Amino acid sequence: MARPTKSIHGEWTSRWAFILAATGSAVGLGNIWKFPYITGENGGGAFVLVYLACIAVIGIPVMMAEVLIGRRGRQNPINSLKSLAEEEGRPKAWRWLGAMGVLAGFLILSYYSVIAGQALAYIPRLFFGVFEGVTPDGAASIHSALVNDPERLLAWHTIFMLITMFVVTRGVQHGLEKSVRFMMPTLFIILVMLVGYAANTGEAFDRALHFLFDPDFSKLSANAILTAMGHAFFTLSLGMGAIMVYGSYLPKKTSIFKVSVTISLMDTGVALLAGLAIFPLVFANGMEAGAGPSLIFETLPIAFGHMAGGAFFGGIFFLLLVFAAWSSGISLVEPIVAWMTENHGLSRRNATMLSGGIIWLLGLLTVFSFNIGQEWTLFGMTAFGLLDYLTANIMLPLGGLLIALFAGWMMNKTSSAEELALGNGVLYHIWLILIRFISPLAILLVFANLIGLLNI
Ligand code: TRP
Repeated sequence: MARPTKSIHGEWTSRWAFILAATGSAVGLGNIWKFPYITGENGGGAFVLVYLACIAVIGIPVMMAEVLIGRRGRQNPINSLKSLAEEEGRPKAWRWLGAMGVLAGFLILSYYSVIAGQALAYIPRLFFGVFEGVTPDGAASIHSALVNDPERLLAWHTIFMLITMFVVTRGVQHGLEKSVRFMMPTLFIILVMLVGYAANTGEAFDRALHFLFDPDFSKLSANAILTAMGHAFFTLSLGMGAIMVYGSYLPKKTSIFKVSVTISLMDTGVALLAGLAIFPLVFANGMEAGAGPSLIFETLPIAFGHMAGGAFFGGIFFLLLVFAAWSSGISLVEPIVAWMTENHGLSRRNATMLSGGIIWLLGLLTVFSFNIGQEWTLFGMTAFGLLDYLTANIMLPLGGLLIALFAGWMMNKTSSAEELALGNGVLYHIWLILIRFISPLAILLVFANLIGLLNI
């Protein structure tokens, strides 16, 4: 199978269109909801440091590898991997790596949508001033009233799936570009505003800084290291082909290195800002840093409930959070839809309806895991916990490992050098060493440590 020179799904109109779309994919619930809560659960500083190291050493090189494979293959991840493998004289079985990514997309979006649904449910609650003057206990009970009610959660999950499918049917290049261009900077500004508010908590702000940036390595378990690494993949949308698909729409002349670094920096910046906004509130109100997935839903409304104009800014904040989650959700379905349309002849519309329907159904597991299905556990995890662990901690790092091995060892150096076009070579060689040795070894070490082969 010869590889096409252009994607049949079209191209981004510019380098910035790609950066915006990929940043739209990267910045989402992972930064604002997940990063703070897993940092809280895993003891803070040391966890943050491992996460930042993973972004630099694994995240950026693997992102470059994904974009490179996508742009060179110009098709959905399964076909791109298959035709590049053929071209390089490697086994076609590499397409199964793409298939695992497609599967991961189904699983991740199924729970992602339920959390995004909670953010949606918060928009009217904030605008209507439900949280005005709220106490920590009050905020917690408003949130539990939402998640304890399967019907409400289901309704919001359904709405989120519908809006996501709506954009996907129209093709991601249209609509997405414009919305991200306007939304991302606004989200950023409100986050900075929240950090400003949090900075006024005085002593609590110092405690938060200390918590986030003063590493205490005794708090770092093998599982915490795995979670930090898994989150580096999750937050950058790596390991399942989302960035690969977006790369397949990238014009030939764009620098893969520059776009990857830009996206990673913006993503990391948003996560750190979210941490700086949330932890001072946690400490100032005597709340639990390890409260888990409910953390942002119980802390941020307290800030919005007490600041001037809080109902308005809070409503806007959750609205923008939903937009951020929306542009991430879209990138989770896009590999699936690209695959169904290219390989199975479905129309974009039918492919979206079919995959969206399956994801919606799978989402019921997460909906129920917060209420009537709290007791349904496996390995001590609820359905939501299990889906999250399996995808973020296992499938994405494994996908990332295989992507690194493919780009580093299966592809000829002349092919990767040509595609990255890094000029005279120092940067290229740094990337090559990272992608061939450092990233794969780091991933393998974390896995080995987890199953007890090492003892860190
Ligand atoms: N990165 C997104 C976030 O942080 C989630 C996401 C979108 C994602 N596409 C992905 C995660 C692909 C893994 C793989 O919220």
